Amino acid sequence: MIADLVIHNGIVVSADTTFPASVAIKNGKILAVGTADSMPQATETLDAGGLHVLPGAIDVHVHFRDPGYPHKEDWESGTAAAAFGGVTTVFDMPNTIPPTANAEILAAKHAIASSKAYVDYGLYGLLGEDTIAQVPELVDGGVIGFKLYMGNTFGKIPSPTTGAMLEAFEVVAPTGKRVSLHAETNSIMERRQARLTAAGRSDPLAHLAARPAVVAVEAVSRAAILAEWTGARIHVLHISSAAELLPLAAAKARGVDITGETCPQYLFLSSDDYARLGGIIRLNPPVREQENQAPIWNALVDGTIDMIATDHAPHTPEEKTRNDIWSVDCGFPGVESQMPLMLTEVAAGRASISDYVRWSAVNPAKTWGLYPRKGVIQPGADADIALVDLTRQWALQDSQLQSRSKISPWDGRKVCGLPIHTLVRGRFAMKNRELVPATKGWGRSVHTIQAMPPAVVRNADQTMQAVLKAPARGAVT
Ligand code: DOR
Ligand code: ZN
Repeated sequence: MIADLVIHNGIVVSADTTFPASVAIKNGKILAVGTADSMPQATETLDAGGLHVLPGAIDVHVHFRDPGYPHKEDWESGTAAAAFGGVTTVFDMPNTIPPTANAEILAAKHAIASSKAYVDYGLYGLLGEDTIAQVPELVDGGVIGFKLYMGNTFGKIPSPTTGAMLEAFEVVAPTGKRVSLHAETNSIMERRQARLTAAGRSDPLAHLAARPAVVAVEAVSRAAILAEWTGARIHVLHISSAAELLPLAAAKARGVDITGETCPQYLFLSSDDYARLGGIIRLNPPVREQENQAPIWNALVDGTIDMIATDHAPHTPEEKTRNDIWSVDCGFPGVESQMPLMLTEVAAGRASISDYVRWSAVNPAKTWGLYPRKGVIQPGADADIALVDLTRQWALQDSQLQSRSKISPWDGRKVCGLPIHTLVRGRFAMKNRELVPATKGWGRSVHTIQAMPPAVVRNADQTMQAVLKAPARGAVT
């Protein structure tokens, strides 16, 4: 057999080891991993001398704004940014216009994404107070999972009541899909923001004051209780505080199917940075006090936090630099800087390259049932590969971002580690730091890779559906 591409002289990275090997690719899949002389003939070869061969990162938390906000991002610019960051699969959030809340809107987003994407993707469906009835059609229409906003953020999607959340979890549990949570309790934040505004506060630190860590602790704890009761699978997005690690670890210990992610901003920024960066680092949940950083890092290392994502949330410089903090849009781009930022810590000896691959690729793939099609370099897997120079020292620069959003807290930051080529199912999306335009539209939805076992449904006899079927008291049956 003649392979399409053989990558020679690289060092392959897996979840527990690294080893020198060649990698053969055919029809978008990995055909063989082994010694150079064991490789089949190939139409094309690539010399990866000096490079590490990583499974492409899977960023389960991006906002590509399409449809709805083309001045901030669209599927073309967002997935080009992913390719430059060594990211080969992204999961896109539903706070677009209109929100991804029914089958028709989902189908329209699938059409847009499949026509423009450089990398593979999953689409989240919105799980809100009034979208529970749409769960079956969203599952049939091909969502990767559901997003539930326990707290308000960009897009102003109302947070569901605890009553609606319980019912939503009951309905999603038997589908096996995971519910990803923006775990910040809205009523606490609204009240505090109103009081701070009335007291005349509009400085950057007022944003943090409105959203103390207790909002995350309360939300994670409550969601874990509802997940335990129903059997629903949940995922805690953007873990920002040491305090919320306690309910997360406790729920894991009780056997709740709960996972968590953190993002570079919570590992590398702190409240000390508001003076320097102001509204640029306004995001939800907020960047918190420095003492949160080490516990979050340690939780990644010990597995309490399962993965690294970015919450890539592009906005324009004008939207990020307004004087009144309450009018600054929340978030900043991250999909193309995550890998260099994290590899810098690997270079500094804080983690191994295998740790990084576990956090960026293996665990996300396992959590959403994509493994071993994605997240690993082995025969039969999709050829989603980031070829990375772990020794390259350079500086992140906003002006160089592929993202339409050219404003981030990372401008000028020195990093060590650079993705040189990115392959998506065997095709170069980025080669020698150049975009490969012909790959636009090659990205496909990964919802069809369904290896998730069904969730263990609990208390099925007490769900809303079950009690509505019960006979009325005194009824003749
Ligand atoms: O800061 C944020 N920005 N947090 C979110 O949860 C949403 C995001 C956005 O869509 O801009
Ligand atoms: Zn987000």
